[in-house]
Amino acid sequence: MLKHIDVISLFPEMFVAIQSGITGRAIKKGLISLAITNPRDFTTDKHKTVDDRPYGGGPGMLMKVEPLSKAIQALKEKAAATSDSKKIKVVYLSPQGQPLTQNIVKTLHEENEQLILLAGRYEGVDERLIEHFVDYECSIGDYVLSGGELPAMVLIDSLIRLLPGALGHHESAPNDSFYSGLLDHPHYTRPEMLHFDDGNSEQKGDAVPDVLLSGHHENIEQWRLKQSLGRTWQRRPDLLKDRQLSEQEQQLLQAFIQEEK
Ligand SMILES: C[S@@+](CC[C@H](N)C(=O)[O-])C[C@H]1O[C@@H](n2cnc3c(N)ncnc32)[C@H](O)[C@@H]1O
Repeated sequence: MLKHIDVISLFPEMFVAIQSGITGRAIKKGLISLAITNPRDFTTDKHKTVDDRPYGGGPGMLMKVEPLSKAIQALKEKAAATSDSKKIKVVYLSPQGQPLTQNIVKTLHEENEQLILLAGRYEGVDERLIEHFVDYECSIGDYVLSGGELPAMVLIDSLIRLLPGALGHHESAPNDSFYSGLLDHPHYTRPEMLHFDDGNSEQKGDAVPDVLLSGHHENIEQWRLKQSLGRTWQRRPDLLKDRQLSEQEQQLLQAFIQEEK
């Protein structure tokens, strides 16, 4: 199970963003440790150069191999002192990577003890660095950001949520969207009835579904599962194609579809 994450980034200060909330609490509790390494510390020239022009011309700069490879090697050596080297992996956050899913997060969490996340900048990194040092390339979506720091934090947050003890007893990863291959059901909190003043004098108000007030746990669970199935069918039918529905789930989904008609 995952116990340490290193990030290689030219902007270590950005990572204060995960010092709050669930992620910050998990780090403070020692459930996982996090360290940020600046590749500039692995340069040898007085300007601490980490980028250079691309061969073949064109706009923009590229991250040079040497500062990154030295940083990765140093981090791997340190990690090998406390972990099986097969359980130390390098992940490059890249728009060209495999799209990140809950399943990939789960695999990374279960199969590794230490991860080294590489956040790119400029036009990215020299291809040879990827070929020789990177185990996985992960994308957080089909759009391009200015750097890999936000994607790295997205991955770290999703990994930390899976650590035992990271969520309070009232929060639960298995209930989250995607965990079981479905979207989460809708949620409601007080007040029981809401009136929105939208100029419609006949408005009846928005009530919380009766079943949630019934105290009948079995019915509530059934309603939630039905809503999860229905939402997934409405919003992400692609997820249902990859999931074998039980007989009960099929019946609940059919009932949801009937009610929608
Ligand atoms: C401006 S981008 C480089 C994009 C690169 N020229 C391309 O088109 O594939 C700079 C860095 O931001 C990060 N990045 C940008 N978009 C990303 C995404 N969707 N997912 C993960 N990382 C991303 C990567 O680390 C990348 O090296």
